[in-house]
Amino acid sequence: FSLKPFTTFGVEAKARYFVEVNSAEELIETLQSSNSPTLQLSSATMGHPKLVEELQPLFLGGGSNILFTRDYDGLVIKLNLKGISEEVLNENEVLVTAQSGENWHEFVLYCLSKNYGGLENLSLIPGNVGTSPMQNIGAYGTEIKDTFVSCKVLNIETRQLETFDLEKCRFGYRDSIFKKEGKGKYVILEVTFKLTTQNHAIKTEYGAITTELENLGILNPTIQDISKAVINIRQSKLPDPKELGNAGSFFKNPTIPLAQFEDLKFKFENIQGYPNGDFVKVPAGWLIEQCGWKGKQIGNVASHKLQALVIVNATGNASGKEIFDFSTLIINSVKEKFGIELEREVNIL
Ligand code: EPU
Repeated sequence: FSLKPFTTFGVEAKARYFVEVNSAEELIETLQSSNSPTLQLSSATMGHPKLVEELQPLFLGGGSNILFTRDYDGLVIKLNLKGISEEVLNENEVLVTAQSGENWHEFVLYCLSKNYGGLENLSLIPGNVGTSPMQNIGAYGTEIKDTFVSCKVLNIETRQLETFDLEKCRFGYRDSIFKKEGKGKYVILEVTFKLTTQNHAIKTEYGAITTELENLGILNPTIQDISKAVINIRQSKLPDPKELGNAGSFFKNPTIPLAQFEDLKFKFENIQGYPNGDFVKVPAGWLIEQCGWKGKQIGNVASHKLQALVIVNATGNASGKEIFDFSTLIINSVKEKFGIELEREVNIL
């Protein structure tokens, strides 16, 4: 079964078995049937009996943060749960719950159409609602942890539904419990956010937003204006996965000790950094560009010409292995020039 249409990198990879689930019940049923000694996943397995240990279910959301470097010799379960519900909390706040299979940007647009504030800075981020807590998606001065209330998850081992509140999710920069101790243990089924219905907090600290609003001639921006500005900025430098396969930022922005940053500043006076206590976060895109990678193509893979942090499937024919090898070359040259080890943000399989 080809996974090519299900990931934004658009690389060819095959799954031995593939099934789409539309509800929590269907998911539990699938896991149960795959747990029986001889599996009969009917259409998904074409009737071939299979021991569950060999199935290693892999859960796929929007496919925007995963790179398949090989075929998957197991069961891929695509999460297709849909629906949005709301509960008014008070005069100024509403709880909005979206099922994991809702497309993230469409969900943001839905909230904006209802004039619910809080997610506008996160416009146009690829992926689905259900994957947003995994790496605490963030952009332009906002992260989902700022509006996140809780998520409902399925504990794969116990098959019980559990609720994770903000504290339990242990969100950090591009990080959560789901990437640490919770890795591979839970499937996120729905996410609840607390949004504002009036008196919206407008977040324009991020320089690029202010500049874009000025370009648009907007003085007192609404949440819809912020969204428009973010969409413009993203479209001006981030490639649309439908046109050019990619998974957004391929690497995390590395955090280095202040002392190391000061040493580097001595050698590379243009180096940028966002101080945070005794540490400094350095833009990986800048480091990669300084190593000469921006816009550079090898075979079918390239670093995007407008944003070096994004690796693209330049010809549409790249293999996952090729993209992975390209990313290794980048890691090596940044390490050599700056002594900084870049970490991949994209999940590699
Ligand atoms: N820069 C360069 N060269 C480049 C790219 C960037 O010199 O090729 C410099 C820019 O000039 C700028 C700085 O690096 O001064 C930061 O660039 P930018 O504002 O584009 O943000 P970023 O750090 O590259 C992060 C997120 C993005 C998010 C933006 C905006 C990470 C890994 N990436 O990128 O997230 O949209 O900030 O908030 O934190 C994603 O996760 O897929 C993603 C796109």
